[in-house]
Amino acid sequence: MRRSLFLLASLASACCANPATAAAPSAAAPSALAHPQAWPAAHSPATLTDPATEARITQLMRRMTLAEKVGQTIVADIGSIAPADLRRYPIGALLAGGNSGPYGDDRAPAARWVQAIRAYRAAARARPGQQHVPIPLLFGIDAVHGNNNIPGATIFPHNIGLGAAHDPALAGRIAAATAQEVAAIGADWTFAPTLAVPRNLRWGRSYEGFGETPALVASYAAPVTLGIQGRLVAGQPLAPGHVAGTAKHFIGDGGTAGGHDQGDARLDEATLVRVHAQGYPPAIDAGILGVMVSFSSWNGVRDIANRSLLTTVLKGRMGFEGLVVGDWNAQGDVPGCKTTDCPAAYLAGVDMLMAPDSWKALLANTVAEVRAGIIPMARLNDAVRRVLRVKMKLRRFTGGAARPLTGRLDLLGAPAHRALAREAVRESLVLLKNDGALPLKPGERVLVAGDGADSIAKLCGGWTISWQGTGNSNADFPHGRSVFAGLRAALGKVGGTAILSPSGTAPGQFDAAVVVYGENPYAEFQGDIDTLEFQPGRKTDLALLRRLRARGLKVISVFISGRPLWTNPELNASDAFVAAFLPGSQGGAGIADVLVDGPAGQPRWDFTGRLSFSWPSRPDVVAHLAPLFPVGYGLSYAHPARVGQLSVAGAAKAPPIDPTRYFADGHVGRGWRLSTHGAVTLTRVDAGRQENGREARWTGQGSIVIDGDTVDLTREATGDMMLAVEYRLVAPPKGAVTLGMGCG
Ligand code: BGC
Ligand code: BGC
Repeated sequence: MRRSLFLLASLASACCANPATAAAPSAAAPSALAHPQAWPAAHSPATLTDPATEARITQLMRRMTLAEKVGQTIVADIGSIAPADLRRYPIGALLAGGNSGPYGDDRAPAARWVQAIRAYRAAARARPGQQHVPIPLLFGIDAVHGNNNIPGATIFPHNIGLGAAHDPALAGRIAAATAQEVAAIGADWTFAPTLAVPRNLRWGRSYEGFGETPALVASYAAPVTLGIQGRLVAGQPLAPGHVAGTAKHFIGDGGTAGGHDQGDARLDEATLVRVHAQGYPPAIDAGILGVMVSFSSWNGVRDIANRSLLTTVLKGRMGFEGLVVGDWNAQGDVPGCKTTDCPAAYLAGVDMLMAPDSWKALLANTVAEVRAGIIPMARLNDAVRRVLRVKMKLRRFTGGAARPLTGRLDLLGAPAHRALAREAVRESLVLLKNDGALPLKPGERVLVAGDGADSIAKLCGGWTISWQGTGNSNADFPHGRSVFAGLRAALGKVGGTAILSPSGTAPGQFDAAVVVYGENPYAEFQGDIDTLEFQPGRKTDLALLRRLRARGLKVISVFISGRPLWTNPELNASDAFVAAFLPGSQGGAGIADVLVDGPAGQPRWDFTGRLSFSWPSRPDVVAHLAPLFPVGYGLSYAHPARVGQLSVAGAAKAPPIDPTRYFADGHVGRGWRLSTHGAVTLTRVDAGRQENGREARWTGQGSIVIDGDTVDLTREATGDMMLAVEYRLVAPPKGAVTLGMGCG
């Protein structure tokens, strides 16, 4: 008997943890009780709730069944609902999550999006038995830096770059362009703007925030809201080309302990208000139609179950009259709730639960809970009214004058939008150091190195085509340009040359090397880190900078990242250092605009970007407590300054443990052990490369185990969690083979 299989190159996962054990709200936790007078007052404009519209809503609600009402309070994800379902279930809203594309194709072209959204809308209209005019679906998408899920859309800089531009009006114009690209596919709702005030750069969502200063974030809230929605007019729907916005994530998402995504903000009320709430009043005053509740907790109580925050403060003190939506299955984190069953969230004041794959059972359970009086009818009616208010602002209840921009695919990546993105790139770049290496001069020969030299995906970061922004190639950005392509074009115009050599080994004489490197794309909790050090224990880019310097070249770092990181060694090894953040698909063109002189040997554009987050002086200290470069820092050609040698004390000796990679490239991940038990042997084997796999051979009962210290995978468990194993079967097994993952 021979049972054998190859365990190939990678074994990775996101799995396994005890369910979250958040403290239950109780009288003993007064620190999670918000007091309205401590919060800034605001008010949705009267144009959101005019009497005529309210009367129409009342009439409409009289004709709705209980299930139809509950259906208006649920948003399902297109990955888990088909148009046919909408003929049967009265679900009122859909979203396309980060990895959900039309017809199961997450890289579908724009035309397929238009087709799918039309099919969903038609199915909802055609649902039999409706005793009222069909209520249009809301269709939401995360258009957080352009309509970023759609191939060919303009990918703008992430918010961190727009914050560095210190130009709220520009962000407003970008929001308006993005709204048009959203409307072009037939969607009418975006989960933006993010008004988080990230206070710990270890948080993987730092780049979604405009900056670490409450006043800066607040200054972006109204212009961006108005860009997305336009100005509300009483009794009128939004002007064509505008869609509904969603301020998120209410509240304290950027203030969690340790910068943990979906974590716990352990803060007194005054700090929560002073630091984390400041963006909401201006967004509400500007008429924002949606607010998304944060996954996170405040002093141990999940925001989505905190009535004092959602009802007393947001709807009461702040007078928000729009729709309060939950986050992705976040109701499942509430003690006593399941993703399919959570009266506590409705009772706290949520008007719509995001139930991507849990919508069907949630509908049935919620109907039963309203019938049983667990959720009062008045509460349900309030929720439905708020949803309908938003829908009426998006017009089209009577079939007529529908969405004029739907199908206008010429708007996706339109030249004017690309020009706007390029302008934003130029404004967002922050020059941290320049010892005369920049600008690049006419006629210079420039080596373009680093793993980001020819990668547009790296410039775009997370929330780009896919949720994590991974798996994208330059071909996915038909209108994009890498830094190499941008430099080649710009240098070519002034008699210079750019040579691409990611490894920096191209032979020949060069005047300078531009090295493009930094973080690889990530989103949400997958971007959480334990240290602010760039490449801890494994400084391959530093080695590249040093090699190029040893060749006698001026070395210019173009650092691509979702946040400032501790880069003292890299700063020391560079003659110039540009923080480019995540500039998007026009990054290459915009970077070249500022880096390369014009024909007269004068800069065409100077650096105007200034940090909106502190740059850390140490890997282990919250950046704003010990900044190397404070908020507002940024050099320019007009105002140079010297940066001396920086301390490199505190660099890690070894790379940190990755809790989600167990076996890769023939090695067990750091912190993990591989062992065999019983009648099984393991030998090294080639699986595409030399000895990068293991062959297992069973002669009887036996197991192979990879284990290590306890790791916390709670956050992975709320996302797309899977255990991934690559294997090749050498001979079919004669007995049962089990593959699993577990705790303990
Ligand atoms: C994120 C939100 C996003 C939603 C829908 C959640 O996981 O936290 O920011 O809007 O998913 O994709
Ligand atoms: C979805 C994202 C969502 C995330 C939540 C992913 O599967 O695509 O939109 O934000 O799960 O963790």
